[in-house]
Amino acid sequence: MEIEFVAAEAAVAPKTGVAQIVFEGETPAGPLAQALAASRFTGAKGQTLDLIAPAGLDLARLVLVGAGKREGFDALGAEHAGASAYNALKTSGLEILRVELPGAEAATAASVALGVRLAAYRFDKYRTKEPAEKKPSIQRAQVVAAEPDAALTAFPPLAAVADAVSFTRDLVSEPANILYPAEFARRVKELESLGLAVEILGEPEMSKLGMGSLLGVGQGSVRESQLVVIRWNGASDPSAQPIAFVGKGVCFDTGGISIKPAGGMEDMKWDMGGAGAVAGLMHVLASRKAKVNVVGILGLVENMPDANAQRPGDVVTSMSGQTIEVINTDAEGRLVLADAIWYCQDRFKPKFIVDLATLTGAIITALGNDYAGLFSNNDELAQNLLDASQKEGEPLWRMPLPEQYNKNIDSVIADMRNVSSGPAGGSITAALFIQRFVNNLPWAHLDIASTAWKKPSSVPTIPEGATGYGVRLLNRLVQEKYEG
Ligand code: BES
Ligand code: MN
Ligand code: ZN
Repeated sequence: MEIEFVAAEAAVAPKTGVAQIVFEGETPAGPLAQALAASRFTGAKGQTLDLIAPAGLDLARLVLVGAGKREGFDALGAEHAGASAYNALKTSGLEILRVELPGAEAATAASVALGVRLAAYRFDKYRTKEPAEKKPSIQRAQVVAAEPDAALTAFPPLAAVADAVSFTRDLVSEPANILYPAEFARRVKELESLGLAVEILGEPEMSKLGMGSLLGVGQGSVRESQLVVIRWNGASDPSAQPIAFVGKGVCFDTGGISIKPAGGMEDMKWDMGGAGAVAGLMHVLASRKAKVNVVGILGLVENMPDANAQRPGDVVTSMSGQTIEVINTDAEGRLVLADAIWYCQDRFKPKFIVDLATLTGAIITALGNDYAGLFSNNDELAQNLLDASQKEGEPLWRMPLPEQYNKNIDSVIADMRNVSSGPAGGSITAALFIQRFVNNLPWAHLDIASTAWKKPSSVPTIPEGATGYGVRLLNRLVQEKYEG
């Protein structure tokens, strides 16, 4: 999607659909009054009214897009308006979308453009015979701005966000026969062109490090497990202590020998959404040359049933030295994170670690499909994440880490078991398990099983499918709290 910023006076080209952003209670008077009187359009947020060749106006098509009340209209509101404008005209047959918000300041116009970019995301590489009339027709978007040059200057950091979110959505959308650990690692390696340093550890290297927990998960797969280390050194002091992000990258989760039921198992191709978000975060940080040192670690495996797969009851030794009785091979994400997190803190001694993982179905039961779960041993880090979440429209809700539930993951024969003895509080006991691999440093765990994929979507900037959840939230966290 090509984006331009134009002045209100700029001529409207042929094949253009005009979307006019309207605040609630400020519906336009004049030639549209009759059309408006015949509709229920009030300008409420998310409403649209599609008018073809409106009488008295020299326009082929006009869509009114409700933005809600003028007070409280913020960057997210502008984004949603841009996205709704795109969605309304997406398959109209017109080629140019022109979004009008008279007097829009540079930052607002840039947010509108971001909304268009995010809404226009589409994963269509495997469609070979989609009829032309079903394909999106809009090729180009013009956003009207009070000062087009200033808007153009404000846009690049937001375009970097859109590029990174698209990168993550592509990874998460790919089926598991295409995107297995080595292919995921290869695509991340390509990001070196942005200035990132990418190291890839294979099974022999991980064996040497003693990562029995991560390796046990991948041992039933013909695909080699990978640990990817991504580094961005943007701080003025290249040796300044980094911050760190770790992602669960289970490229497919069958459950292993504790196999999942067939219904819906295809969803487990997106069980690498945490690693996808960390890769997207590194992408945006490098694109906008963030002034901070950051490490991103991806634990990439495929969890398969096989003659060589690990069995329920097996005991593995993690890199930390702690032993784990694998009661359920489907609780594999925490086994991957245990070694990836340990490696991260051991090698990089970061200021803090945030991990992201599509970890538990229980977080969906607890929070529904819009909120991710936040677990943290540090109130300041937790609050910073909640603030970033609010500003970026990626909802997050803090959950407890009660010490008294810790005994539920004690084992009779090893240091711990990988699942709780009962079903209660499944997301919490999973987080408590991970916490056993975190030393004395601030840490937060985001369980994004609820938010990595949307079907259907209720947010105009997120088409159905991979959301890219986490990229924006973490980018905002880094930008506001750790740069400079
Ligand atoms: N990848 C799943 C969690 C998941 C479920 C992600 C639904 C996205 C949508 C995870 O590996 C898993 O299987 N968790 C088990 C844990 C259980 C065995 C304790 C679960 O949630 O059922
Ligand atoms: Mn699982
Ligand atoms: Zn999983």
